[in-house]
Amino acid sequence: MKIIVLGAGAGGGFPQWNCNCPNCQLARSGVPEAPSLTQSSLAVSADGKRWVLLNASPDLRRQIELNPALHPSGPGRSSPIAGVVLCNADVDHTAGLLTLREMQPLAVYGTGRVIGVLAANAMFNVMDSKLVERRAMPLETPFPFLDRDGQPLGLTVQAFAVPGKVALWLERPEEKNFGSIPEDTVGLKITDDATGSSFFYIPGCAAMPDDLAKRLNGAELVLFDGTTFTDDEMITAGFSAKTASRMGHMAMTGAEGSLAALGRLSIGRRIYVHINNTNPALLRNSAERRLIEASGWEVGFDTMEIVL
Ligand code: MLT
Ligand code: MN
Ligand code: ZN
Repeated sequence: MKIIVLGAGAGGGFPQWNCNCPNCQLARSGVPEAPSLTQSSLAVSADGKRWVLLNASPDLRRQIELNPALHPSGPGRSSPIAGVVLCNADVDHTAGLLTLREMQPLAVYGTGRVIGVLAANAMFNVMDSKLVERRAMPLETPFPFLDRDGQPLGLTVQAFAVPGKVALWLERPEEKNFGSIPEDTVGLKITDDATGSSFFYIPGCAAMPDDLAKRLNGAELVLFDGTTFTDDEMITAGFSAKTASRMGHMAMTGAEGSLAALGRLSIGRRIYVHINNTNPALLRNSAERRLIEASGWEVGFDTMEIVL
């Protein structure tokens, strides 16, 4: 199974269009210590020929061009992308569906809630329903990823609820946890049917309850929410009144952070993705980067390839 990190950045990417923070300034200057990141997405393939996108980011068009494996290779219109599996309805994970609108047969999987959000937004109808099938996926029950015509790609998907929050643009301030339900935010376990290899992809996760820790223990590979280094990073930078946990993300550090929570688990390879532009661990020469690398973590980057 092949995995490509299409975008290792969080919503907004790195640099973010309207941000002139020290990190974003460095990224714009083009120094190798601060590589730019597009927004949150992976591609996965069992055979290296047909690919499934895990989330569709607003940067998808550029991500396809940067990764030759995703270029059309047959005659005429012939994308190797067979479809998409969505983790939530966030803009950084769904807006790329609008890029996939040029008459290509696709299967788009999401929880019933997320498929409902697409149905309620008429602009997504640019993906012609004669060619693109939207499929509600169950929580917990593994299912084979099937292309639009029902052909398996040799990949089994299991979606499971993780602590999180409804998409920012769907928040209901008057309701508990802004009206979030378990189907709003899922992690994915992807298994290669031929080899049995598997990995977890969890780009948004607000906490690490025991059942999730148990699920991840023993994993070959986990790609995990690396949005912020500290919980109050956006507040300290003066950009927002929100903590990471208010935004539905665990910080890397702190007693409740991902370094501590996943540090207790046996995991073959652990890679941060969905990294916000304010996170000092983005900089390759930072003390914060050294700290997370010393804890056994890698920091994902665009076009990173992993073979399992
Ligand atoms: C998030 O991950 O918290 C969201 O992508 C935020 C956003 O929609 O900008
Ligand atoms: Mn996001
Ligand atoms: Zn910035």
